[in-house]
Amino acid sequence: MGVSTVITSGKGGVGKSTVSVGLGRALAQKGRRVLLVDCDAGLRSLDRMTGVEESLVFDLADVVEGRAAPADAIYPCAEATGLYLLPAPSSGERMASPQVMRRLAELLKRYYDYVLLDSPAGVGDGFRSAAYGADRALVICSPDPVCVRSANAVKGLLEEISVLEPRLVINRFNGDFFWETGVYSDLDSVIDASGVQLFGVVPEDFSLAAAFLKGKKAPERSSGMMALARIAERLEGASVPIAL
Ligand SMILES: Nc1ncnc2c1ncn2[C@@H]1O[C@H](COP(=O)(O)OP(=O)(O)OP(=O)(O)O)[C@@H](O)[C@H]1O
Ligand SMILES: [Mg+2]
Repeated sequence: MGVSTVITSGKGGVGKSTVSVGLGRALAQKGRRVLLVDCDAGLRSLDRMTGVEESLVFDLADVVEGRAAPADAIYPCAEATGLYLLPAPSSGERMASPQVMRRLAELLKRYYDYVLLDSPAGVGDGFRSAAYGADRALVICSPDPVCVRSANAVKGLLEEISVLEPRLVINRFNGDFFWETGVYSDLDSVIDASGVQLFGVVPEDFSLAAAFLKGKKAPERSSGMMALARIAERLEGASVPIAL
């Protein structure tokens, strides 16, 4: 039986989809069967980021509304053995309810080691549907006060629906910018303000971003992919230092 993890943030545009794809690729690289579930109904992006956009016929709504079996709506991702995508519905109104997502995730976990649920921005219905399917959560955050505050709010909402002990991933970390702004004295202050235990730090890495924008694999030795590989190892239970 696999594990389902929601990748969420509250605030939009902080790298949930980038971390979902990168982590999925890193776990698949380690020989795991990984399913990405795009829960961003109406604004889906993972089909493009994983190179399956052209072959897409069915999506999540087709599965929950009975027009397709799960296997018909799950696509192997480009350049990654073991990584698959269940695309989001094309329209926002067609997102599955939280209860349906929970049942679907239970089913999918029988076939995949990891089910990664890429949440939409915000804390509305789409977030709730994604979170209901999850056993655990990664909260993505950039080191700025608005994002840190929303990470704290998301933690509370996750705990209300029994997704306990979420973990923090600081994304797009850029040391020069971080020290220049001087908003936080160090990363510990970011972690304290978010109230979420740190799980990993992903640096700003334009080679990673550029590859995913084109649906391609990012260079394995890029700083972003190396950070995501360390997060993947930690998910696997290894004790790996959080290097910057
Ligand atoms: N570590 C990174 N280094 C450089 N660019 C990044 C990194 N992470 C994300 N980005 C860029 O930031 C932008 C937003 O990323 P992404 O789409 O993953 O965010 P999101 O949280 O999923 O957004 P949304 O809330 O709209 O779903 C994209 O242009 C992406 O390429
Ligand atoms: Mg996204």
